[in-house]
Amino acid sequence: MDYKQYIKSVMDFPTKGINFRDITSLLEDGKVYRSAIDELAQFARERQAEVIVGPEARGFVIGGPLAYALTTGFVPVRKPGKLPRDVVSVSYEKEYGTDQLCIHRQSIKPGQRMLVTDDLLATGGTIDATIKLVEQLGGKVVGVAFLIELTELSGRSLLKDYNVFSLIKY
Ligand code: PRP
Ligand code: ADE
Repeated sequence: MDYKQYIKSVMDFPTKGINFRDITSLLEDGKVYRSAIDELAQFARERQAEVIVGPEARGFVIGGPLAYALTTGFVPVRKPGKLPRDVVSVSYEKEYGTDQLCIHRQSIKPGQRMLVTDDLLATGGTIDATIKLVEQLGGKVVGVAFLIELTELSGRSLLKDYNVFSLIKY
């Protein structure tokens, strides 16, 4: 499937110099969305993932259906002040600014095989922070899956210790 034709590129969004890769046009097409999830699910199966974890907001749009396809659980990683129970948190750098991410402390069992996913790999800051949270709770990151990888930003080098899969590369 030629997924690229379903991604819209928007120059200078949200700030000048960023070429924003908009996945909403892909999500709007049910067959294409499903096909993308099925391919990511195949990778997750090969990695024998037991649980899916993804950061808000766009990581939910990938991780939720992925967990459904695999009949695994889904663990949300969220911005501060959103998760109601005891959390662990981490600060991280993004392509455009710094932020913080949190996970429920009781969401992962030690040694559980975790598949970390998001819509897009840019600098890798978001997913690196997500991995840190998972590992802090004793989870084993068996794979990292993205819809899109922006290769120029070398996020993959930050993830050199992990098995990384992406469907669309720019
Ligand atoms: C975007 C995207 C990834 C992250 C990638 O999320 O969905 O999570 O940036 O960039 P990085 O590899 O440089 O960390 P954003 O923080 O814009 O939040 P959103 O999903 O809530 O829109
Ligand atoms: N998140 C970080 N960089 C991005 C980009 N260029 N397009 C879409 N989402 C992003």
